[in-house]
Amino acid sequence: MHPSRTPLVIANWKMNKTPSEAALFCDDFLSRLPALPERVELAIAPAFPALERVGRHLLPTRVKLAAQDVHVEPKGAHTGEVSVAMLADVGVAMVLVGHSERRRDRKEIEADFTRKMKRLADAGLSPVYCVGETLEERDGGRTEEVLAAQMTALDAFGDALPPGFVLAYEPVWAIGTGRAATPEMAADAHAFLRARLSERFGAAAAAATRILYGGSVTPANAADLFAKPDIDGGLVGGASLVPADFAALAVAAGA
Ligand code: 13P
Repeated sequence: MHPSRTPLVIANWKMNKTPSEAALFCDDFLSRLPALPERVELAIAPAFPALERVGRHLLPTRVKLAAQDVHVEPKGAHTGEVSVAMLADVGVAMVLVGHSERRRDRKEIEADFTRKMKRLADAGLSPVYCVGETLEERDGGRTEEVLAAQMTALDAFGDALPPGFVLAYEPVWAIGTGRAATPEMAADAHAFLRARLSERFGAAAAAATRILYGGSVTPANAADLFAKPDIDGGLVGGASLVPADFAALAVAAGA
């Protein structure tokens, strides 16, 4: 953490929790909120059916509502998809773009992510753009090349990042494996990403952008990861499903 940036921890629930289960989580987690460090920004990204219910719980609190994805088109004949306007209408403030599970399962590519981030920027929602290499790419010494290629999704933004832009470094081999990157490995990747942002958008924009780490973050390893100056918080899957664990991550981010 660097003192000039507000720490951020986002719960990405993926395809977990029905609306009823999500409501139970909110009751438990929000009862812990007064004890959590106020300077840490928190957000929860439920699955679409739980968005409105979770949004109602979060509305009177400082915890933001996030979504896991959005469609590239604003409306129309796209069965099963969800638009930016729909997300904005239920109070979503942040949206994940480019998660590796979407890259893998839906074959989404940088051109899709550019379009999604443009839609979000036009509507005033913050994109949380996810990048990260596979194990094969890391073992082949290609991590920086892969990250640089993924960062080209931002090329269409001229010289200004989308408002509220957040970057998330999520090495694919660390997601859901229980094998987090070491703080040093993550710090190296974050430094590389911040340098790319600086080259592209200037030093001030790079210094102001939060870069989150994601991939098997737990209450046991979070403090060491978040202690690195370029790691500004976490994008958390498994550990964010348990209220006490998500609360512990907020504490670690505020330390
Ligand atoms: P895990 O924390 O379960 O490894 O998931 C990370 C992730 O993909 C968050 O977007």
